[in-house]
Amino acid sequence: MSKLLLTWWTWFIWSHTTVELLQAWHEVVIFDNLANSDQSVCDRIQQITGIAPVFVQGDIRSLEDLRGVFADHSFDGVIHFAGLKAVGVSCEDPFGYYENNIVGSMNLLRVMDEHEVRKLIFSSSATVYDAAASQAPFAEDAPTGNTTNPYGTTKFVIEQLLKDMSNWKQMDITSLRYFNPVGAHQSWLLGEDPTDIPTNLLPVMMEVVEGKREKLSVFGNDYDTTDGTCLRDYIHVVDLAKAHQIARESQWSGYEVYNVWTGSGTSVAQMITILEWVSDKPFPFENVDRRDGDIAISVANVWKIENKLWRKANLGVKEALEDAMRFRGKAW
Ligand code: WQD
Repeated sequence: MSKLLLTWWTWFIWSHTTVELLQAWHEVVIFDNLANSDQSVCDRIQQITGIAPVFVQGDIRSLEDLRGVFADHSFDGVIHFAGLKAVGVSCEDPFGYYENNIVGSMNLLRVMDEHEVRKLIFSSSATVYDAAASQAPFAEDAPTGNTTNPYGTTKFVIEQLLKDMSNWKQMDITSLRYFNPVGAHQSWLLGEDPTDIPTNLLPVMMEVVEGKREKLSVFGNDYDTTDGTCLRDYIHVVDLAKAHQIARESQWSGYEVYNVWTGSGTSVAQMITILEWVSDKPFPFENVDRRDGDIAISVANVWKIENKLWRKANLGVKEALEDAMRFRGKAW
């Protein structure tokens, strides 16, 4: 089908997307600086697909590295994941986030232009939505900006750059605004196992299941929701990966944005209940103060992706929790 450069960072989402692209007969070159991932994941991708992805170690902060991989390969397009993604850490290291995410993206766009590569899928985020100016479920034309952390700011700024690239450099670009990716591959070979200390809900819950943590701290149970805990739109990582393949294969001209997706909100308390159900064990937690920067409800309006790009998400939160448990070796 096409030869694609995938700029990786942490391998959770990017490895699943690589599997879907290879299984759809695309040729994939992985570009990663290995700061937050491990090349052994390529062996697992080969175990699943029977195809060994091409791996090139490099850093998007280096124009030389990027020019090298574009000189060695003739790409039809790029799927750009690279970027730091921890909201809390971004508040402690804004310059690191600006350099990796914004400068790195600028470098990539420059080298794409030098080589006349005009197709791009970008890993954006629901954090670009201005939660103070609009209510969930967020539609793609809802107000964006007024971000509450440097991570969200980088995604917002990069989306502005991409609009310029579409207008002035004739690039065809699709931004996929991830909500909350969770779960693992059904082979149990790929999943979320962060090398750094996890901050996202699901990997933290898995550490409790594994006995690495005594209990989950629930950040606030006094929100204006049915049970007082925050609602999020948890998208199974396999559905999210397939959305990249479909977006690449159906890319039109210009600039498009899609929520990635489900449209259903699940509260933290409901996540605990579901995990107790699938593991058939009580799950220890305690209610503590709210976390700075959290919003009560973040759920996608899914009309556009379901009517213009693809269909309803296949997998739900229960499957995501079951797959995550299996991947972490806690099959019961
Ligand atoms: C989910 C809910 C917490 C941990 C961020 C980014 C988003 C995306 C996913 C990249 C919240 C609660 C969490 C814990 C808790 N990143 N929670 N105890 O903040 O919704 O989204 O990560 O694509 O862009 O903004 O995800 O998993 O951190 O939190 O109670 O120990 O779980 O308060 O309500 P978040 P999260």
